[in-house]
Amino acid sequence: MKQSFLTGIFTLLLFALSSCQNALEEDTLTLHSPQQTHRIDIYLDEAGRPGYRVLRKGNRVIDSSGLGFEFKNQPALLNGIRWVESELFSEDETWEMPWGEQREVRNHYNGARIVLEEQEPPGRRLILNFRAYEDGIAFRYEFPEQEGTDSLLITAEKSEFKLTGDHMSWWIPGDWDIYEHLYNTSRVSEINALSKQDHPNLASTYIPENAVNTPVTMRSDEGVHLSFHEADLTDYAGMTLKVDPDKLMLSSALVGSDRMDYKVGRALPFHTPWRTIQIADRAGDLIESRLIENLNEPNKLGDVSWFTPMKYVGIWWEMHLGIATWDYGMTMDDSGQWVDTGKAHGKHGATTENTRRYIDFAAANNIKGVLVEGWNTGWERWIGFEDREGVFDFVTPYPDYDIEALAAYGREKGVEIIMHHETSAAPRTYEQQLDTAYALMKDLGMHSVKTGYVGKIIPKGEYHHGQWMVNHYRKVLETAAKYEVAINAHEPIKATGLRRTYPNAISREGLRGQEFNAWSVEGGNPPEHLPIVAYTRMLAGPIDFTPGIFDIGLTQKPGSQVNTTLAQQLALYVVIYSPIQMACDLPENYEGQPAFEFIRDVGVDWEQSKVLSGEVGDFVTIAREERGTGNWFVGAITDESPRELEIDFNFLPEGLSYSATVYRDGPQAHYKDNPTDIEIETTTIDRNSKIKYRLAAGGGLAISLIRK
Ligand code: NOJ
Ligand code: CA
Repeated sequence: MKQSFLTGIFTLLLFALSSCQNALEEDTLTLHSPQQTHRIDIYLDEAGRPGYRVLRKGNRVIDSSGLGFEFKNQPALLNGIRWVESELFSEDETWEMPWGEQREVRNHYNGARIVLEEQEPPGRRLILNFRAYEDGIAFRYEFPEQEGTDSLLITAEKSEFKLTGDHMSWWIPGDWDIYEHLYNTSRVSEINALSKQDHPNLASTYIPENAVNTPVTMRSDEGVHLSFHEADLTDYAGMTLKVDPDKLMLSSALVGSDRMDYKVGRALPFHTPWRTIQIADRAGDLIESRLIENLNEPNKLGDVSWFTPMKYVGIWWEMHLGIATWDYGMTMDDSGQWVDTGKAHGKHGATTENTRRYIDFAAANNIKGVLVEGWNTGWERWIGFEDREGVFDFVTPYPDYDIEALAAYGREKGVEIIMHHETSAAPRTYEQQLDTAYALMKDLGMHSVKTGYVGKIIPKGEYHHGQWMVNHYRKVLETAAKYEVAINAHEPIKATGLRRTYPNAISREGLRGQEFNAWSVEGGNPPEHLPIVAYTRMLAGPIDFTPGIFDIGLTQKPGSQVNTTLAQQLALYVVIYSPIQMACDLPENYEGQPAFEFIRDVGVDWEQSKVLSGEVGDFVTIAREERGTGNWFVGAITDESPRELEIDFNFLPEGLSYSATVYRDGPQAHYKDNPTDIEIETTTIDRNSKIKYRLAAGGGLAISLIRK
């Protein structure tokens, strides 16, 4: 992997206000995207409130929507504002992703910067930044230095998004603590997030109002797709969107803290994160959009070639199945209480011997990483304990785990051990140990860590998605980078494209992952889950979903199962993007399985990606070209409805032919009754091929196209 760098043309053109398509008329500034697909009108209304409207191909897709703020100890900046000056400019740059869905990303937009001022004294200033792209629009606020004020305490951001219809929407509740909810499909007028309070398996959840978390995706009756999110969430609270089901209005509702009577505290000058709307006719174009990353700053880390995209296995699923434990010595006493005996109970998963077994398996199967959870002391006082500070120790292994010997053994075999840091949502304890923990990793040659934040945040009153935690997650990324460590966060703050700036932000959870299938809450993830995730959560960034269950019926968990076919588990390696992809099942479940060949072969780092077909919540087909080999991989998944798909392979280059191995649902396949019915065939495919495939209920299709 090479250092990320800017290539191509970078232009900054200042237009005179009267020039070309963009014009200022009576306090309305009109901004068009470079190809004129989108138009944004930015205006001041009669009360002097700033606002905007968005048109796509001449039709309104966001109606007149207000902007502004409320503060603690200061009057609101909402009305009584005047226009001072504005400038328009364009940018067209191409930058390279050190790892990603594609190598080159074009960042092409027209932008506007509008300086506003309070009409009355003290005449505080507020600056609006807007960008019009072909794949959507974005805006953010800038607070310049002001006389007499050195900081601001924001109690409410009043950004509105007025919808033009009662769109179909795919949403999760605006939980301040966790994104691990099932997606709901409903009209905007029917969104009722407060009815989603009941979560038997979530260690923390807080839904204070009828709001949704982002990305939230919608489709108008005219077929326009809109997805609302944010980009570059830096030193600010995460934004949920409050829903007014009658007015069909969304408005920013920032995550707060019970310790503060404001949502965001900042010294001047600063700017907010970008508020983003990805807009597309075709559902798949939302997935191809790189708008979120484009709204982030360029790579600050330089060369990150110490991290290599990889597949990994791990001591993980066995804990979720209940056949091994994270802890070393918890035993139930005669009165039914769990006590830490300090003595091995024999079910500890992270032993030296077990880890060697995983390293051997990885080395034999083109898998470069082994995750080991439960290697360190502290698991005796994890979930369910109020006082979790000072408990987890990120440098001390349990007595049956030889961390040095295993790192050396992995090196010998060409496999890297992936570190695990479960913080139990006690971030102060983690921060105290960051440097020592990462220094240990550096010494051992370990370059990635899976972090976790299960539970209510300590200190009490903070939430996972508030400003205080946003800053914690950033501190982790920045500190880790100094030690050449990459972060895969579970129970994270949502992705907002920061991987452009900090490419050591490799992946994260932030959704209901595979683990829910082992716990089988409400019957596990339903078949529509991932065909929704692809158009919602995945628009934010890479997902550590952990695909690859082969024992779909979950032998160790009678009554539970994964609600997909085996072919769909394979397809997920292509459909769900992440530069690290787990093969999460037990090694013994892969032994002797011909379908495992797909996991061995599939790439994890892509030259380009194309969404061939799909509809939100129904299905999606994605083709990706592997970097460095020119091999292509295709994945398609469907919800509970079987469907026929015709794939036109015209995305392949001219004049080349590929040896294709097709993994498809067998004739009897069904996610419920017959999930492992799979057919595997090898054939030759080139750009003239057009082939029909049938996907079973909850089914999938995976194709490897290896260059001949
Ligand atoms: C929750 C994570 O999502 C899961 O992957 C992990 O095994 C546990 N926390 C323990 O850290
Ligand atoms: Ca989780």
